[in-house]
Amino acid sequence: MAYTARDDRPADKAARYAELEHEILAVLDGEPNRVARMATVAAMLADAFPLFFWTGFYVVDPDKTDELVVGPYQGTLGCMRIAFGRGVCGTAARDRATRIVDDVHAFPDHIACDASSVSEIVVPVFDAAGELIAVFDVDATEKAAFDAIDAAALERMMGKVFAA
Ligand code: SME
Repeated sequence: MAYTARDDRPADKAARYAELEHEILAVLDGEPNRVARMATVAAMLADAFPLFFWTGFYVVDPDKTDELVVGPYQGTLGCMRIAFGRGVCGTAARDRATRIVDDVHAFPDHIACDASSVSEIVVPVFDAAGELIAVFDVDATEKAAFDAIDAAALERMMGKVFAA
């Protein structure tokens, strides 16, 4: 194999994601609880790529549908609530579109929860009816850690785990 699970930047990132997707779906087989599914995704992704410093969900608050509230995550303390349109997570939620930020310090209105976070990707998460239920946020300690391979793999994984 051209990569190992602990490589900082696996040579074949797409293959690592495919393997991981398979493992995550196997662990979640038969478990319908959404919190359990989110917690498992956050934990298994955090463990798979050492560059990932924070992995987790901000879920759409059912009582305040223009606001995200922190959900299951791995990493240092995250902020509690993010309004739609604010920061990277709120922008991805408002636009229902993946956002990749190479340098968070250059992103206007970035919400800094931890100074160690340098680059990030945020992927919208939909249920089977196509409703936005959350965003999935991954932060890294290096600049430009994420690209189109991460976006495609994470979008696909969120679809399989939450919209299937
Ligand atoms: N980076 C996010 C805030 C949440 S944390 O990084 C855990 C943002 O600007 O949306």
